[in-house]
Amino acid sequence: MSLTLWLFLVFKVLGANSEVRQFVLKQASAEDCQTLQIGESWISHSPITCHRECVSRHWENCQAVVYNSETRNCTPGSIAFGIIKKVKTSIPESGSSDTLYYVRQPIPPCNTTNNFALYDVCGTSACLYMSTSRADNFNHARTICSQMDSRLFVGNTMAKYTLFMYASKTYINVYGCYIGLKHIDAIGQFIWENGEPLSDEQNQYIWRPGEPNSEGQDCADAKHTNWPRNFGLFDATCGKPGHYVCERCEDC
Ligand SMILES: *[C@@H]1O[C@H](CO)[C@@H](O)[C@H](O)[C@H]1NC(C)=O
Repeated sequence: MSLTLWLFLVFKVLGANSEVRQFVLKQASAEDCQTLQIGESWISHSPITCHRECVSRHWENCQAVVYNSETRNCTPGSIAFGIIKKVKTSIPESGSSDTLYYVRQPIPPCNTTNNFALYDVCGTSACLYMSTSRADNFNHARTICSQMDSRLFVGNTMAKYTLFMYASKTYINVYGCYIGLKHIDAIGQFIWENGEPLSDEQNQYIWRPGEPNSEGQDCADAKHTNWPRNFGLFDATCGKPGHYVCERCEDC
């Protein structure tokens, strides 16, 4: 049974210009979504007041709260994302009776021409195309995405990366798959397709154990044969045929 609950709340916040913001909170279990704690906990009498206080204490950064209806403990969180087993500091812990409430992020427009579809995980959404045939190599995959007015998928935040993991978990079980992450030898780093380097934080959870491990394997292969236990990227040669995931977005 789904215990999904939507809470709508609208309130005026004492910001610089008394900006009115509307928040849509969604409830999730610790098995579906988690967040990172961004400050001390306090006691609050409902999830709504918990979130309201979180917003006033952490104006820009509060995208989620963890609330316990028995102890009334309220913990402020950053953005919500799907489970990443390698991130040990995420809350609530799996199996905890705490409940996560996350703010639904604005849904970007998704032009579904060429079989793109909107995916939505823990409040973050993306407009993705999962290829049905293989490109000859990384550059070919990049070209195909570009011809469809899109780019190879950029998973440059925890929220977007886990969205991709969940969206592709059955799709990529069988195939090797290119995403928009490539090692640039001149810089000595993996760089996302939007030009952003792979952050140190992401470097710790995005790879399979022991990866990346080979000189000259400059692409990332999202071949998660045993999701979620074995989810993670391999480094791989950019020259072999592979499936690919394209993303349409406003700034692509
Ligand atoms: C949707 O995308 C297609 C292919 O890029 C484009 O031809 C079409 O104009 C787009 N439609 C809208 C409403 O933007």
